[in-house]
Amino acid sequence: MLVMVTVVVFILNETSADRCKDFLGGVCRDTSTPCDGGRYHAGFCDGQANRQCCVHDTTGDSECKAILGVCQDISSPCTGGIYHEGLCTGPVHRQCCSRVKVTGTDHRCKEVSGVCQSKFNPCSGGYITGLCTGPSDRQCCVPDTESELHFFPGRVSRDCLGCICKLESGCSPTVCNTNDMGLESCGYFQINPIYWIDCGKPGKDWKSCARDIQCSSQCVQNYMTRNAREQRCSGTCEGYARKHNGGPGGCKNDSTFPYWNKLKSIPGCENI
Ligand SMILES: *[C@@H]1O[C@H](CO)[C@@H](O)[C@H](O)[C@H]1NC(C)=O
Repeated sequence: MLVMVTVVVFILNETSADRCKDFLGGVCRDTSTPCDGGRYHAGFCDGQANRQCCVHDTTGDSECKAILGVCQDISSPCTGGIYHEGLCTGPVHRQCCSRVKVTGTDHRCKEVSGVCQSKFNPCSGGYITGLCTGPSDRQCCVPDTESELHFFPGRVSRDCLGCICKLESGCSPTVCNTNDMGLESCGYFQINPIYWIDCGKPGKDWKSCARDIQCSSQCVQNYMTRNAREQRCSGTCEGYARKHNGGPGGCKNDSTFPYWNKLKSIPGCENI
């Protein structure tokens, strides 16, 4: 929180009420009153700690906007700035491109195999405070390794599925995301309706399958089997991950390298 407040004050030198309004489009209130469908953000209002900025943010990206950033996929260049994790909703590769520097590192979170993100994002395990830089909402999500035990068996190893799952959603069932073309993808592996049809329509319907660990991992396993011979993707985690990201030809397409590199940066996935 300290870092963010310092940055914000430095940029505009505004009063706190204005910071809340201008950066987040919110109103300063006591957190004992409900924020009616919105949520409170600390560090944007004067006074006691329980006086916070109530924001009705339909996109959920207000923490990124608060450091003058834009949420986008990390495969796009962040011209003039750097990507910050944990300030955008959606999958882990959707991050905040901002010119503002947030100093420090998140290595303490990484040491416990966690990922720094907004504590309002779903986390299959639990949040630990004090291990991440940035605002106090930004906490260390340590995924529940139990859920990895329930992956559907097949050609993709459990470890590889675990890494794809962490990259796509923090290995959480509830995250949904809509791409540029309006196609919605949901759940552990960010499965969309087209992918679900291609994987043979396991389960009841695409969305409930996407949110079920067994069904969604079965869908990924099936998907990797389809077109396997024609596309000749390597039977490595790299081949599967890049195909998951870029479709049947994804393992041969340079456009999937940023995805693969990001996956390898996840703690425990370096040598997958
Ligand atoms: C590689 O991927 C990009 C982005 O998805 C796509 O536009 C392009 O057609 C692909 N190239 C090949 C050779 O498949």
